[in-house]
This record gives sequence, C-alpha cells and structure tokens, in this order.
Amino acid sequence: MGDFIIEGGRALRGSLQVQGAKNSVLPILAATILHNGTSTLHNCPRLRDVDASMRILRHLGCRAEWEGDALVVDAASLTRCDVPDHLMREMRSSVIFLGAVLSRCGRSELSMPGGCELGPRPIDLHLSSLRQLGAVIREGGGRLHCEAPEMRGRELTLSLPSVGATENAILAACGCEGTTVIFNAAREPEIADLQTFLCAMGHKVQGAGSSTITVEGRSPTHDVEHTVIPDRIVAATYLAAVAGSGGEVELRGVDYRQLSTVTAALHEAGCQIHSTGNAIWLRSTGDLRAIRPVRTAPYPGFPTDAQAVLMAALLRSKGATVFVENIFENRYRHVDELCRMGADIRVEGRVAVVCGVERLRGAAVEATDLRGGAAMVVAALSAEGESRISAVHHIQRGYADILGDLRQLGARAREE
Ligand code: EPZ
Repeated sequence: MGDFIIEGGRALRGSLQVQGAKNSVLPILAATILHNGTSTLHNCPRLRDVDASMRILRHLGCRAEWEGDALVVDAASLTRCDVPDHLMREMRSSVIFLGAVLSRCGRSELSMPGGCELGPRPIDLHLSSLRQLGAVIREGGGRLHCEAPEMRGRELTLSLPSVGATENAILAACGCEGTTVIFNAAREPEIADLQTFLCAMGHKVQGAGSSTITVEGRSPTHDVEHTVIPDRIVAATYLAAVAGSGGEVELRGVDYRQLSTVTAALHEAGCQIHSTGNAIWLRSTGDLRAIRPVRTAPYPGFPTDAQAVLMAALLRSKGATVFVENIFENRYRHVDELCRMGADIRVEGRVAVVCGVERLRGAAVEATDLRGGAAMVVAALSAEGESRISAVHHIQRGYADILGDLRQLGARAREE
C-alpha cells in the first residue's frame, strides 16, 4: 500500500454511485450470528474494516465469503464465543460483537477495545446496558469475561445517545426473553438499517430512527438477503471535495434527507444544490464564503464524521468559520496537517476557527485517522501543485475506492 499522490487545482465534474455504508455494514455483520443460517449482503463496501469483521466471523467458526458482489455469511457453523486480542485491536468497533455473541452463545469473551485516534472510546454505556439485561461481565487483564445464562428484556435508558451502545443493546435484546425498550437511543440511519436487516431475519425490532426502540426477544429466524444503505459520510466527503475544488457532481443512490445538515452548510457557503429521491446534485465555483458556526451533534444534528471534510472544503473560503466538536474529545488531529498546506486554523479545546486563505499549496501530509485523512484528500484537490498523503490505511478503512471515485470526476490522483 503506497501513498496517495494528488495534483490539485482542477475543477471536478461527473456522476458517482455512492458505496454502501461502513457504519451500517459493521453492526449488520455482527448481527449475522443471530441466525443459525445464511445472510447475504448486497452493496457491501470492500473496506479494511469489513475484512476485519470477516476475520472475526471466521474465528467464531462462521463462513464469511464474497460471492461475486455479495458478501455471504453462514453462521450455522459458529463454534466459538471469544474474540482474540489481535482481532479486537484491528478495529475498536469490534465491541459490537459483544451483544450478538451473548445473544447467540449466552457467554462471550473479548478485549477492552481501548482508545483510538479520536481519543478515549469508553464502552461504559454498552456494558451497563448488557448488565441490565442480565449479563454478568467481569473485567480483568484488559479482557471482558461475560456470562449471560438467562437474559431478560427490560426498559433501558442510555445517558447519551451512543450509536454503538444502542446497537449492542438491540443485538443483546434479540436474545432476551420478553420485551426490551431502549430509551434515548441513537437515531442514526445506520441503526434503522440494522433494524431492517434484523426484521428481515425474523427478529421483532421497531422504532429505530426515533429515540425509543422496542425489541421482542427470541424470535424464530430464517435466511436473509439485505441491501446495505448508501454511505452518507462518503457522500458528504465527495460533496465537500467538489465544493472546495469547484465543479459539478451528481451523487446517485443517496438519501438526501440523511445529509440535510451537510447540504445546508454547503449551500450557505455558496454552492448550488438540488436533490431528488435518491440523488444529490451540487455545483460550486470553488470560491466559497465562511458560514455560521458548525456544531457537531448526534443525528439528526451535524455529523461529527463530516466535520473534517467540511473544514477542508472551507479552507479557502472568504471569512472565518467556527467549528465546535461536541462528540469526540480529540477530533482535530487533521488540523496540523492541513496547516502544512497553508491553511489557517486555530484550535482551542473543542473549538476550531478556520480563517480562509487565498490559496493552498500541495504538501506531504500524513493521514491521522479515517475522516481526517479524507479531509487531506479534499484539501489536496483544491491546493496548487502536488500533495503526497501517507498512512492511507486509515482512509481505506472507510472508503472502498476514493481515488477511483475521484478520478471519475476528473481528479489527477494515483497511489504510488
Ligand atoms: C459510531 O461510533 C461510528 N462508528 C463513528 O464513526 C461515529 O463518529 C460515531 O458513532 C458518532 O456518530 C461506527 O458506527 C462503527 P458513540 P461509536 O458511541 O458508536 C461517548 C467513522 O468515522 N461514549 O455514538 O463509537 C463516546 O466517547 C467513525 O466512521 C461513552 O461515553 O460512537 C463519544 O464521545 C468514527 N460511553 C460519544 O459517546 C459509551 O459507552 C459518541 O460515541 C459509548 C460512547
């Protein structure tokens, strides 16, 4: 795996089909073990994180293979209930397997996921939800030893609308006797997609997309086929790229309603935007203006995952834009790298102020994390000259073919 080499300063034009959603397919892959049979997933993106989930499924004894463009999991042969440390370390969101394995096996053992580039990633809400459903969880030596001989549904309230904790609670509740009601659940569209998948499998889940989700446990299940929803953050990335570089793009297969806070920000910055049932069209001169403060929030607020790429689009805008990152403690690691391209960004705690500059210049930068790396791609496209982006494995965790997609829009971008 080489570096990304991007020649900036060119307008982008074209039409793209957006890949399937990483943050939908990861919990769905964990959910496949809730059926003693076969799940077939369509529109599943080929990502490093998907590969990591497939390695976990195979370790558990499942068959997980690509069959053409479909990803097929056969969980009938599941024999193990533990996730080894080296597989947990590959992807911190592997903690999503905890609820599913407990549901299926009645016990589970995996490592504490640890922190990541975005700062500490606690799982206290995950553990408290599972304990309330009857799991006995002992932490020791960095490992979680979980026994759930008898899990019973009940009312749960999350102290904050955690995406992962909501998903783990849903998956555990599927294995409980009786009804579970989750209050203050996260409302992200990926949770609604997980619900669609589980219901297609035979489980009884309702309310996803709202703050209250109800699960009737222990439903009979059957083989399932499912098409993963499009990735709204990948769509936001490409809209930001064209907004910053100038040009025109049509993104196909996207539900514009899931991106309304991002398109509203880009429209305020001066882009023309139209949307239909499943496509978004954007045109930009590349000369943007600063916008009102951008505050990240749980869905349907402005997505934290789009903070870095919107920032990158605004680096040459006229005026100053204030960002407030309310979800993660340390989600400005991309700032120093963007400043190497000539950006003018000041960070104070959760606040970053982007003062627009006349021009950006290509530079050698290092991807700091998944969306921070994507922001460097966005900035490099509107910079003068050539940029080299290293540590691109971060980017490949969430983008199936970002260079190929951007080349379809006329970008001069290669891997070397
Ligand atoms: C999911 O992470 C996404 N990952 C993240 O996307 C996304 O940024 C995040 O949701 C917020 O939308 C996947 O879906 C695989 P959270 P998750 O639990 O579930 C705190 C990307 O770029 N918290 O909603 O880990 C936590 O520290 C990735 O694709 C607790 O305090 O996010 C954070 O401050 C990055 N205790 C906040 O809640 C807990 O038990 C939101 O985290 C759990 C979370």
